[in-house]
Amino acid sequence: MECASYGIIPAKEAGRRSAERNAARAKRSPALIPSESTPMNLETYRHAEFAEAIARGPYLNHAGIAPTPARVVRAVQEAAAHSARDPLGFVMQAVLPLREAARQKMGRLMGASPEHIAITKNTGQGLALAADALMLEPGDNVVSVNCEYPSVVYPWYAQADRGIETRLAACRADGTFTPGDVAAKMDARTRVLTLSWVQFGTGYQADLAAFAALAHAHNALFIVDVIQGLGVLPLQAETLGLDIVATGVHKWLFAPGGTGGLYIAPHVLGRMRLLNMGAGAVVDVAKFDPLDFTPKPNAQRYEEGTPNMLGIVGLDAALSLIEEVGIAQIAARVLQLSEYAAQGLEAKGYRVESPRADAQRAGLVMFRAPRIDNDKVMEALTAAGVTAAVRGGRVRFSPHFYNTEAEIDQALDALPT
Ligand SMILES: Cc1ncc(COP(=O)(O)O)c(C=O)c1O
Repeated sequence: MECASYGIIPAKEAGRRSAERNAARAKRSPALIPSESTPMNLETYRHAEFAEAIARGPYLNHAGIAPTPARVVRAVQEAAAHSARDPLGFVMQAVLPLREAARQKMGRLMGASPEHIAITKNTGQGLALAADALMLEPGDNVVSVNCEYPSVVYPWYAQADRGIETRLAACRADGTFTPGDVAAKMDARTRVLTLSWVQFGTGYQADLAAFAALAHAHNALFIVDVIQGLGVLPLQAETLGLDIVATGVHKWLFAPGGTGGLYIAPHVLGRMRLLNMGAGAVVDVAKFDPLDFTPKPNAQRYEEGTPNMLGIVGLDAALSLIEEVGIAQIAARVLQLSEYAAQGLEAKGYRVESPRADAQRAGLVMFRAPRIDNDKVMEALTAAGVTAAVRGGRVRFSPHFYNTEAEIDQALDALPT
């Protein structure tokens, strides 16, 4: 099957370019050429959920923020109308059950028991809470890397006033870092290793099993920011022994920004102070009893009060889409599209600067033109209706499962040479 039949380029224009494209494709890996086996239900989801986004042009910025799927728009609109009519009914019949449903789905996606997941506001809230709450001693240290997303390291800088040192291993020029690089910063006082699963500025997917083993060999906890991988790749947080996992939802998970998930392994909870306690922290929330303070026996004790109600409705709807399509199928398709883009970029003379090995990549393709500024590249992409981003001095494409080879070709065609 020719993927242009997903239908985002007007037929005449597609025809004009097809011979050129087919010739370019023929030079690439045969495994990347769309075939009859391209799952047809992706095409259905593409049109049913993303019609508005695809009408604007190739959207290749899911590592920044994803377009809202149609089912999420409907769910939130209906929820707002429900709340207008019957606010208490909306809370009892929609928000509270959907928060539990979303928690279950988040648990399945993370590979973690749902009762140990708190629904938070965003990734940063979860990571900061972990840093503030963990009981550490002056002279303890925390290790990360120097290309991290700010929210991974800032909360630890803020612990300097209690004598906690933050140590950063250097990321290599190719965006990778090895357990050996990180181990060189660790010692007997290292209490935490903290990393992103997938780096926002380089696209590097860290080997979570290897880094968990490294942390645990030092009796340190392993705290992971999974926002750039969750919704793209399967995760087994409990099997991998991840101690704390934080995510937001507005990127690869397609949910409205403003909710998140925080998994805290049960053995870690006792090492965390009670912080941000609110009425929602206790076992019997409905009692409203100021004299009975019995915090929930799991991560949910950190859900202080009134949740992001419409956000939760949107989150559950968005996670239902991920589950329906299936994370295995999403992973296969995203890896296929990102490699297709990488090969096309190289064919145009651009330098691909994100890792290419399957085990080291996810959905982010970072690149640079040898002699053209990123600003000029972005101008050309924007003029052609392509949405991309610049991070860490590189242009970034981040296609999701519903994108097509034809859209990638359209983006490649727009690149100046
Ligand atoms: C690695 C990483 N962590 C976290 C975030 C976002 O954090 P938050 O959910 O707190 O907005 C991003 C967004 O770019 C990111 O790339």
